[in-house]
Amino acid sequence: MPTSKKQDKGNHGAGDLAPAKGKLGVMIPGMGAVATTFVAGVEAVRRGISAPIGSLTQMGTIRLGKRTDGRSPKINEFVPLAGLKDLVFTGWDIFEDDMYAAARNAGVLEVALLDRVKPFLSKIKPRKAVFDKNYVKKLDGPNVKKGKNKMELAEQLRDDIRDFKKTSGASRLVMIWCASTETFIKAGAVHQTVASFEKAMRENHQAIAPSMIYAYAAMQEGVPFANGAPNLTVDIPAIQELSREHEAPICGKDYKTGQTLIKTILAPGFKARMIGLNGWFSTNILGNRDGEVLDDPGSFKTKEESKLSVLEHILQPELYPELYGNICHKVRINYYPPRGDNKEGWDNIDIFGWLGYPMQIKVDFLCRDSILAAPIVLDLVLFLDLAKRSSELRGIGIQEWLSFYFKSPMTPKGLYPEHDLFIQLMKLKNTLRHLKGEELITHLGLEYYD
Ligand SMILES: NC(=O)c1ccc[n+]([C@@H]2O[C@H](COP(=O)([O-])OP(=O)(O)OC[C@H]3O[C@@H](n4cnc5c(N)ncnc54)[C@H](O)[C@@H]3O)[C@@H](O)[C@H]2O)c1
Repeated sequence: MPTSKKQDKGNHGAGDLAPAKGKLGVMIPGMGAVATTFVAGVEAVRRGISAPIGSLTQMGTIRLGKRTDGRSPKINEFVPLAGLKDLVFTGWDIFEDDMYAAARNAGVLEVALLDRVKPFLSKIKPRKAVFDKNYVKKLDGPNVKKGKNKMELAEQLRDDIRDFKKTSGASRLVMIWCASTETFIKAGAVHQTVASFEKAMRENHQAIAPSMIYAYAAMQEGVPFANGAPNLTVDIPAIQELSREHEAPICGKDYKTGQTLIKTILAPGFKARMIGLNGWFSTNILGNRDGEVLDDPGSFKTKEESKLSVLEHILQPELYPELYGNICHKVRINYYPPRGDNKEGWDNIDIFGWLGYPMQIKVDFLCRDSILAAPIVLDLVLFLDLAKRSSELRGIGIQEWLSFYFKSPMTPKGLYPEHDLFIQLMKLKNTLRHLKGEELITHLGLEYYD
């Protein structure tokens, strides 16, 4: 029996998937290096100047059916994603620079390229931000909203959302956080229910971070939200409840680029071969504004927590105490202005093999942070919009199938996250197959030997 045909059930169980009709509005808190590299890049691709390298939605394919069937359509032809031509943009920032000036300032893309898309970028001007210096100690700027309490600020953001929808003519919206890393906070009593959260907003409670106010506004407007920073933002019961209630999918957190990307590629390989690990020392030099913000111990702590959790979940020391029971894992970020966005990340990895013999691996990754992050932003925007159009996904809250893109993937309480990049990719592609009523791929493969 051919296994490549659609399951008899057809789309049964996967619900409806509405087509991507009309424009998709992308709303970005934080118009810095990542945001401008993403938007300038989309425009450059639309104009045929560059290629969308690194984007799974634009370049990836998906195998359907048996290996012998020869069915591997492009992902964006298989599921109904918004086309790049349909994307329209707005953003918020504490600085008044438009996207062109902000991109020049970020110094990621060459001036010659930016100048070719200048008319488009200059038109995107930042809306006034919701900002609190207590949450980002190293920054201060003039383009900030005023309100008597945090609920009023949320109302102003909701007005921005409605205004953008009207003026841009977008039929659907997505919000994606590209603003700074906030100081480290833990979920507390005020974050537990929608009622306690809203009361805290009215009382200007210190535990309501600016990023939470954006997320709250998005949820109330039924707009999906992706958390690109390691901030607590949507990792709290109150926002998750609103997400389900308003069918506004959420995902996060902290884009998986650079050193953590490499870590989640190498570590599963060691575990697959039962190679032991004694220690992993990671250090970075970084000179962009993100690096400056992370120079503050509060913001660094938020990032550190996100970066450290990866190895433990991949290596499962509780299952393999002899191999991974005693690992020394350290992560350092050093603000070093001469490098700008071109981070250098070193890893020293102490591993051991047969009979316990030690070996070392050194990785020196001369990476470009925002170049790695921009295609992630694009994919998340398109996939979150897909989730919103799926009757099965839009009401479930956390979109775990998007773990592929994050350092610290969100999961429901009590469920550990999948960090292994290849398991994450399988989860993502199987979700797409499921949405379209195609058979899931298990890689069993015995059918070829019948
Ligand atoms: N580039 C990467 O590889 C990468 C990877 C993972 C996570 N991130 C995270 O993505 C975020 C953006 O990184 P970046 O390199 O673009 O940083 P950036 O400093 O260049 O840009 C952040 C922008 O956000 C603005 N901002 C700060 N608080 C704001 C607020 N409350 N509202 C609106 N705007 C606000 C800042 O003024 C700044 O322009 C950071 O949180 C970073 O940690 C980046």
